[in-house]
Amino acid sequence: MNIFKSITIAGLAASLLLAAPHSKKDENFKQVVQTGKKSSKLLLQTLGKNMKRNMKAGGPMKALDFCSQEAYTLTQKVNKKLPKGVNVKRISMKYRNPANKPEADEAVVLEALKQLKSANVILPKQIVQKVDGNTYKYYKPLVIHKKVCLKCHGDITDVELRRAIEARYPTDKATHYKMGDLRGAIVVTIKK
Ligand code: HEC
Repeated sequence: MNIFKSITIAGLAASLLLAAPHSKKDENFKQVVQTGKKSSKLLLQTLGKNMKRNMKAGGPMKALDFCSQEAYTLTQKVNKKLPKGVNVKRISMKYRNPANKPEADEAVVLEALKQLKSANVILPKQIVQKVDGNTYKYYKPLVIHKKVCLKCHGDITDVELRRAIEARYPTDKATHYKMGDLRGAIVVTIKK
């Protein structure tokens, strides 16, 4: 029975592959996903690499300096490298920097992701939102899966670090996260 089942499933998968997108609409969608993937990866890698370097060089206090002084400018630098009409940023419902507050349509997606997460759904790698005829938003959900994130976004035990964060971000909402929590998303806006 199991063998038959897997053969049927394999057959189904093959026919789905054969029926791969051909229309212009599907082509558009494919391009949006490709651009979104590339752009979000570039931002994540750039921020991740620099964060690691600073953490190694001077621990969380130095890494905090990096995050608060350079995360934004580095994001702008990444944006300069992207094709015209493409923009990448980070958002969160519980944001630290008010500049990362989601727009209304983005908040709807984050809320939906949060609901899915609380129903134990394994989140998709990406979600695409059609904003209007020419604009798409590609979302990559960000889940806390590294302990190091909790140093600055968990229950912060290092008093010096906590004070430094409070001093820089008096309206900080981005603490008390736990491993596996949804932290936010990377959004790539793609205008054609
Ligand atoms: C050394 C402290 C530190 C560590 C470690 C750290 N962050 Fe942050 N994080 C910050 C600061 C500071 C900001 C605000 C940056 C700014 O001003 O743009 C921030 C902002 C963010 C944002 C943007 C939304 C917001 O709240 O403003 C996301 C998403 C994020 N961090 C995720 C993570 C993840 C995931 C990890 C682990 C891989 C992590 N952070 C590790 C300090 C840290």
